[in-house]
Order: sequence, then C-alpha cells, then structure tokens
Amino acid sequence: MNEFLKAMKFRHACKLFDEKKKIPKKDFNAILEAGRLSPSSFGLEHWRFLAIENAKIKEALKEAVLNQPQTTTCSHLAILLSRKAKFFKKGSEYVDKMFAKTAKDIKTLEMEKELFYGFLRNNLEADITNWSKMQTYIAAANMMSAAAFLGIDSCPMEGFDAKELKKALIKNVPEFDKKSYKIALIIAFGYRVNEPEEKIRRSMEEIATFVK
Ligand SMILES: Cc1cc2nc3c(=O)[nH]c(=O)nc-3n(C[C@H](O)[C@H](O)[C@H](O)COP(=O)(O)O)c2cc1C
Repeated sequence: MNEFLKAMKFRHACKLFDEKKKIPKKDFNAILEAGRLSPSSFGLEHWRFLAIENAKIKEALKEAVLNQPQTTTCSHLAILLSRKAKFFKKGSEYVDKMFAKTAKDIKTLEMEKELFYGFLRNNLEADITNWSKMQTYIAAANMMSAAAFLGIDSCPMEGFDAKELKKALIKNVPEFDKKSYKIALIIAFGYRVNEPEEKIRRSMEEIATFVK
C-alpha cells in the first residue's frame, strides 16, 4: 500500500495519549510546516497556530475543552485560530498585503482584489467568519495527515465551550491575539496508549460517483 494511504489508516481520533512521550521538536515543526504550506481560498492564509506544551496551561484549558483527557495527556496541544471577518472586508490592509506578495503588477493586483471582493459579495455576505474557519480546517487536515506520516497520533476537537476557552486563553496565553482571531479547532498531538478499533467508514460506492 502506498505510504500516504498507510498513514491515513494509521490516523485515528486518539482519545488518550502517553504522557511520558514527547514529540521531538523537528517532528512538531514538520507538522506546523504542513499547516503553513496548506492551500487557502485566494491564498489568504487565514490561520494562526498556538502550540502549547506547558502542562499547567493545558490543565488551565481542560475544563473549557469539556474535560476531554486528550487536552492534558497529549504532548503538544495546538489551538488553531482563524482570522476574524473584519480582515477580509473591502479596503482591508491584510488583503492588500497578501495580494501584493504575488501580483505581477498594480493592474493585476487591482483585478485580483476586484475578483476577490466580488466573490465575497456574491457568496459570503454574512458568513465570512465561517469561510475563514473552513480554510483553517484544511490546514488542520494536512497537519493531522503529516503527523500520521511521522507515526504521531492526533485528535481534532470541536468539543469545547468557545466562550470559556476564549476566557481561559486570555488568562493563560498572552500570545493569543483575541482582537484578530477566533478559535477554530483544537488538535491534540502525541502518542497513543491504546490501539484504535477498526475504522468504520461508508463504502466507496456510497461516497463516490463516477459520472459517465
Ligand atoms: C472537526 C472535528 C471535531 C472533532 N471533535 C472531537 C472532539 O471534540 N472529541 C473527540 O474525542 N473526537 C472529536 N473528533 C473525532 C471524530 O469523532 C472522529 O474523527 C470520527 O469519529 C472518525 O473516527 P477516526 O478519526 O478515529 O477515524 C472530531 C473530528 C473532527 C473532524
């Protein structure tokens, strides 16, 4: 089987990590790199990642993550943040800066911006926040796949109280820029204690249609 699919089969939502095993720095950096290199709508890289190893901080966040044991048993807790809607509104400095990085000249830059703001107007008027979060989930998937490729387990967690977690981050993580980002998703990374049960998935026929 190809190495990538092997990693996809290895990955599961790990519920309990071995607290004694720490992910080597270079491996965790590779996981972050997979996030960094991820695609995003219009290349706007909507994300920021907070990486938490400190046991006291993990403990302080645990209740807001509904006391899920992954939060404190993992080696690294990644809080994936997504940029707030205001960064993508017409006239945004952030959009100007990001597009300026790749545009060949001013005319192309203006065309790209027009295309982007037209896209927002037509598709997303009320839902830019969710659109930003969706991009962050793409990075999340790549980070979990990269981890699995390195033999590292993960658990994505949406099971948290957003208000309480925000409060706990403000109190314990001064690096959290609450003005710019919303919490999108948490991923715990580490090494499994128990082997997972066999994967249950719908069959290929149920999920894919080859159109004739
Ligand atoms: C966006 C997202 C949020 C999730 N939130 C949680 C969570 O809060 N706690 C948890 O134990 N599992 C969580 N999961 C794991 C799923 O339950 C799991 O991926 C699914 O049941 C399939 O099992 P597998 O990942 O082991 O193949 C989440 C998965 C995703 C994709």
